[in-house]
Amino acid sequence: TCNDFILPIFLIDGKNKKLPINSMPGVYRYSLDKLGIVVEKAIKNGLPMIALFPYTNKRKKNILGTEALNEDNLVCKAIQLIKKKYKNEIGIMCDVALDPYTSHGHDGLLSSGYVLNDKTNEVLIKQSLLQAQMGCDVLAPSDMMDGRIGKIRKSLDKNGYQMTQILSYAVKYASSFYGPFRDAVGSKGLLKGNKKNYQMDFKNSDEALREVALDIKEGADMVMVKPGLPYLDIIKLVKENFKIPVMAYQVSGEYSLLSNGIEKGLIDNNVILESLISFKRSGANAIVSYYADRLDRILT
Ligand code: PBG
Repeated sequence: TCNDFILPIFLIDGKNKKLPINSMPGVYRYSLDKLGIVVEKAIKNGLPMIALFPYTNKRKKNILGTEALNEDNLVCKAIQLIKKKYKNEIGIMCDVALDPYTSHGHDGLLSSGYVLNDKTNEVLIKQSLLQAQMGCDVLAPSDMMDGRIGKIRKSLDKNGYQMTQILSYAVKYASSFYGPFRDAVGSKGLLKGNKKNYQMDFKNSDEALREVALDIKEGADMVMVKPGLPYLDIIKLVKENFKIPVMAYQVSGEYSLLSNGIEKGLIDNNVILESLISFKRSGANAIVSYYADRLDRILT
């Protein structure tokens, strides 16, 4: 049902914009004044939550990703606007990571080609607190630094945000399925090297269990497995080993493959429901999907 889904929404600066994203047919970037279209439909359909992602203009990016801490950045403005207008009719989830804001496209601070774990955590703690202050309900660290869940939890609690939840991207593989997303947030072509220094090796499934165990111990309320369809075995493994809500992310590359295939007439659109049901079958408690704005057509 619609209650199983989280809808990612891409934000863009400016006015009166609903811009298509080339690499993701059927997905748009919305300026804040147009957000109502997609948020109101999500509320009407009964989606429990949306996830906000900013397309950041190149001139706002730098090596430190400082725009992440700007209280007037797109995400902060969007959270405030949605909370003011729609109160708690729908939950808001925000990524905690620096990649939309760094000129090198990495999720953290770079030094000699490597992302610095502990220095990055210091920034992520500030980014989390800022988003919580704006009214974000669920913080979703997708950066894959070690130890950040405990540190973010501690800082939230200390500052009066005990009720803000943490959905940890505990199991996030260094995947080639994220390509279209990087286009959507404007980091395509900027990324130097790859993210294997902090995201996980897809040949390894034991590590998934270790990562989840650590994040639960540090205070995660929910965990994410990502990508989705090629990792159903991992979703099941995590669900069976830990009795914690497990979310699955049908990522941009999965979306674009299906959507392009449908557009070209190679496969029919029943593949959408079939792929979404497979997440449920594997044990996912919720599914992040770019199809979540069209469920009225898909779930009939
Ligand atoms: C970045 C982030 C990524 C996605 C969500 N958050 C991409 C990455 O790690 O490079 C991917 C989502 C998708 O592909 O749909 N922190």
